[in-house]
Amino acid sequence: MSEIHPNVKRVLYSADDIKNRVQEIGKQITNDYKDSKDLVLIGILKGSFMFMSDLVRSINLPKTNVTLDFMAISSYGHSTNSSGVVRILMDLKSNIEGKDVIIVEDIIDSGLTLNHLVELLGSRKPNSLHTAVLLRKKDGIKIDVPCRYIGFDIPMVFIIGYGLDFAENYRELPYLGELREECYKK
Ligand code: XMP
Ligand code: MG
Repeated sequence: MSEIHPNVKRVLYSADDIKNRVQEIGKQITNDYKDSKDLVLIGILKGSFMFMSDLVRSINLPKTNVTLDFMAISSYGHSTNSSGVVRILMDLKSNIEGKDVIIVEDIIDSGLTLNHLVELLGSRKPNSLHTAVLLRKKDGIKIDVPCRYIGFDIPMVFIIGYGLDFAENYRELPYLGELREECYKK
């Protein structure tokens, strides 16, 4: 493996671990949606961009109209704690009414962000609405938000890499790592 970034305390999941798990989720989705007419995968930017890109390539649904859309939201600013306040920076370009929708999100901590998105998109009358979340901080959950597909359950540490950032940095790292505490605790 290439060198680990000096601000990473430890690697939780290597690029290979991620690849294998994402392929398993892709197979599950392929199986669950084989009778779907229209499936829309909605990537929540920016954190989910790598997960989204790998996930869609592991889905094989030749009889379904598979489309992608994106929504950009901001919930954290430059801090590491969830404010619970979600700001929509860019809305969907497509109409999801009557379609099967999967929200693709990088990580849930309290669950407040995803819960907000489920309520918002649910009000647009999709045929079905489910969620695929790469990481779940199990001890952070404050609200019961349904996750149909989960990559990994993780401890309460701050994660960077594979699309996830701290103050917009580290998204490019190909693995999921724990950010050194001294990088965010002053
Ligand atoms: P909530 O508490 O609303 O938080 O479920 C989810 C949002 O917070 C961000 N988040 C993180 N981002 N590393 C990150 O890069 C983390 O460890 C982390 N924990 C939460 C994330 O953007 C998500 O949408
Ligand atoms: Mg973020």
